[in-house]
Amino acid sequence: MTVTIVGSQLGDEGKGALVDLWGGDADIVVRYQGGDNAGHTVVEDGEEYKLSLVPSGAVRDKVGVLGNGCVINPRTLFSELDDLRERGLEPDVRLAKRAHVIMPYHRRLDNIEEEAKADSDLTVGTTGRGIGPTYEDKAGRRGIRVGDLLDPEVLRQRLEYVVPQKRAVIEDVYGLEAGEECDIEALVEEFTEFGRRLSEEDMVVNCGDFLAERRDAGENVMFEGAQGTLIDIDHGSYPYVTSSNPTAGGASTGTGLGPTVVGQGEVVGIVKAYLSRVGEGPMPTELKDDDRDEELADYIREKGGEFGTVTGRPRRIGWLDLPMLRHAARVSGFTGIAVNHLDVLAGLDEVKVGHAYELDGEERLTMPATTERWAECEPVLKEFETWPEVDWTEVAEEGYEALPDAAQDYLEYISDELDVPVYAVGIGPDREQTVHLENPFDK
Ligand code: GDP
Ligand code: IMO
Ligand code: MG
Repeated sequence: MTVTIVGSQLGDEGKGALVDLWGGDADIVVRYQGGDNAGHTVVEDGEEYKLSLVPSGAVRDKVGVLGNGCVINPRTLFSELDDLRERGLEPDVRLAKRAHVIMPYHRRLDNIEEEAKADSDLTVGTTGRGIGPTYEDKAGRRGIRVGDLLDPEVLRQRLEYVVPQKRAVIEDVYGLEAGEECDIEALVEEFTEFGRRLSEEDMVVNCGDFLAERRDAGENVMFEGAQGTLIDIDHGSYPYVTSSNPTAGGASTGTGLGPTVVGQGEVVGIVKAYLSRVGEGPMPTELKDDDRDEELADYIREKGGEFGTVTGRPRRIGWLDLPMLRHAARVSGFTGIAVNHLDVLAGLDEVKVGHAYELDGEERLTMPATTERWAECEPVLKEFETWPEVDWTEVAEEGYEALPDAAQDYLEYISDELDVPVYAVGIGPDREQTVHLENPFDK
């Protein structure tokens, strides 16, 4: 049995919370794309874990795998592992030999390029973690892979080819000074040491083989997506995207298990009950038209803690966007959804959703394929009855029927529009603050 968790919007939908919840029934949790740009929060009995690279299953003592579709910064990885160990956990993390390594020059180039774009509308607002430049090198066939760290000679050979190119870009294209990120000797030394530690701790695997063996032995696998559909490099709002495929297809290419394996299992879209976006790009339902909108956005931001997990940036806020969700449901083939943050919308004077878009005087239910056209879409808003603040702990104990009627109507509307069932409803950050309807591992 496999369950794939996919962000259906712009990231930060609360994927970590659901991976943690259902991860209890998984044996292995695998990240299939992205790197330390992700920030997944798991809260267990009030204890909060913020994970950017280690799969969220680590909090539950599951085997965590970083698949071949990931890009891995060993500095972040080891510092995160050390932190978790200090907090009393013993994370068992394996890395795919085919995964690419984020090198210090990737991070430098990410920041240089964002700086160069700063005064134009080309700025993406990346997390500055070197994600884009690492995937560029992967596609350019000049990347460094985890397997290369295990062989100092291969590592040196690859660096001797690639580093002079990076130096030339930094110095000749941008007119800046290259620094220690381009010091080949220092890189060989530091990254060989990472390789040694990976071998010593038995952390490196042939991902596809490893997962297939465990599946053959009857184990349950959870695929943990990072980011979200609208920042997918193919299906998102290009160029305001990350450089990988958070959508469900990535679970196959990013792990080495076939699409039939992913497709035989459940694919659960994680939906935030409203929208948040960190970084640039269109957002038709954004709350920003007037002072009242901005006040409401500020209120939701504070109440929902909408500040980037990785960078601390305030997130932009908007109403739920149904054309976006219809797109996400189709791209990944959702078999179910989880709707989070329903508690954050409680007690508001108004609750709206973007039911459709108006474009060129016509109403449409789905998103246009170019970002420029998407930016021209005006939301057709539908107003819902509001629901009051209630004792959410009590609701979590009593179940779905204890949710306020208007909140149930809201959920049923989303479920009907996407034609998929709701498996869980998030009503607070803690593992316990969830209304369970169905566990996808029991399907
Ligand atoms: P992810 O990147 O999708 O894993 O999400 P993040 O962890 O970056 O952001 C989600 C934030 O919302 C975290 O602070 C979570 O603890 C919190 N959260 C998750 N689900 C809920 C919920 O249902 N209600 C509230 N109020 N907070 C939630
Ligand atoms: P999780 O997994 C929200 C955004 C960045 C930027 C764009 C590209 O926590 O949902 P990148 O550094 O990836 O090249 O930046 O993507 N972004 C995220 N936004 N949640 C994330 O991850 C994100 N990861 C990247 O803000 O707009
Ligand atoms: Mg996040």
